Amino acid sequence: MLYIGIDLGTSAVKLLLMDGAGIIRNIVSKEYPVSYPQSGWSEQNPIDWYDNVISGVKELIADFDGNDIAGIGLGGQMHGLVILDDKDEVIRPAILWNDGRTTEECDYLNNVIGKDKLSEYTGNISFTGFTAPKILWLKKHEPNNYKRIAKIMLPKDYIAYRLSGVFSTDVSDASGMLLFDVKGRKWSEQMCDICGVTEKQLANVFESYETVGTVRSEVAEELGISAKCIVVAGAGDNAAAAIGTGTVGNGRCNISLGTSGTIFISSKDFKVDANNALHSFCHADGNYHLMGCMLSAASCNKWWLEDILKTNDYEAEQSNMRALGENKVFFIPYLMGERSPHNDPLARGAFIGMSMDTARSDMNQAVLEGVAFGLRDSLEVARKLGIKVDRTKICGGGAKSELWRKMIANILNVEVEVLESEQGPGLGAAMLAAVACGEYASVKEAVDSVVKIRKTEYPDSEIVAKYEERYNSFKEIYPTCKELFPKLL
Ligand code: XUL
Repeated sequence: MLYIGIDLGTSAVKLLLMDGAGIIRNIVSKEYPVSYPQSGWSEQNPIDWYDNVISGVKELIADFDGNDIAGIGLGGQMHGLVILDDKDEVIRPAILWNDGRTTEECDYLNNVIGKDKLSEYTGNISFTGFTAPKILWLKKHEPNNYKRIAKIMLPKDYIAYRLSGVFSTDVSDASGMLLFDVKGRKWSEQMCDICGVTEKQLANVFESYETVGTVRSEVAEELGISAKCIVVAGAGDNAAAAIGTGTVGNGRCNISLGTSGTIFISSKDFKVDANNALHSFCHADGNYHLMGCMLSAASCNKWWLEDILKTNDYEAEQSNMRALGENKVFFIPYLMGERSPHNDPLARGAFIGMSMDTARSDMNQAVLEGVAFGLRDSLEVARKLGIKVDRTKICGGGAKSELWRKMIANILNVEVEVLESEQGPGLGAAMLAAVACGEYASVKEAVDSVVKIRKTEYPDSEIVAKYEERYNSFKEIYPTCKELFPKLL
């Protein structure tokens, strides 16, 4: 049988077809735009997502027998607010995970309700990208839209709803709404009361590997697949990526270098760090995880090369750089503000340390290194919790760059395991579908059978020492600039 994994990303939807032996048979990617109505805001149209999913699936399975498609699994950008009215019409564009408009609402939640209460109810505190503060923002700024809300959804769950007609979500994605009791794996009554949300407006919650329903007959007909094909709850893109990279069980690490940059640590137990600097969420394997999230990662490189330098030749721009650890230029990658660990939506990007001998390649190098230093910031929080991370998997578009992987190995001082496929979330989503169809007895069994390591990048102690010094300087840039950022807006 065949399984479709849908990774509903921010820059594109990536669709993947996997067979029962875990072999990837086809991959299709469809891009769509993001709109930035104001500095630090970001929105997308859910209808664009769905239209691209449908045309993408058709292309994905064009050379296969539609009757062999047994299951569809979903992974997707987290925290986005999708709202439907009582006729199932999308009320307004989705407000995305990297949107920073909810500073006031987060202040209210963190300081008036209190971080201790939020942490007690949900295992987390409020960050601007999370879903609950967006609902409060809507109540204040768009009361007419707010009054029309019949269903509150996460991005991938909108796709599941259109495909299956079932209003569902999964525990890993629900964890990022700040309406969910992560430890208890259920909606938090207290948080729903605080945000004026009724449970009727929220979806039925499933474990990631559970079936929510079958595809609607009209959809099955349009796609040319069987109406017996199941739709599986799936996971937030980071938890799905962790499945796709085999990051399950206790103390395993995965780094995702997509539009966002995340560092994901799987855990058998529910854990929270004292300052809630890392997110504490449910994992798609039935357990839990900790995660640090940078709002701009591979997107910094895309912005720098494509929007500023006006080139698509990533390879050429990554050649002729200085030896690792020798670059004098720094870049702080806060183009959309920053989430982990600084939690500062007003932070912005900056280059620093240029001189008359600075070359274009130094700036290119600084962008890649700045993202790796940002990931190190989150890793340090985990290390302070006593979590030992000396090895990680890596996935996402940025993971294709050998140079970037080497920087990460040396800046974080970890072994970086490169997989046969860097398609983390799409593969993970297809694997969850295969588990739900009984192809594998458990998520663990799917991971053991499907995920293969291709090679490992090892840190080099001399380079590690040089980068350690550079990191000590990098660490000082944000605190030095912090007070300045609000004045720059
Ligand atoms: C995680 C987060 C991002 C998005 C990107 O908390 O906000 O990684 O999921 O798609």
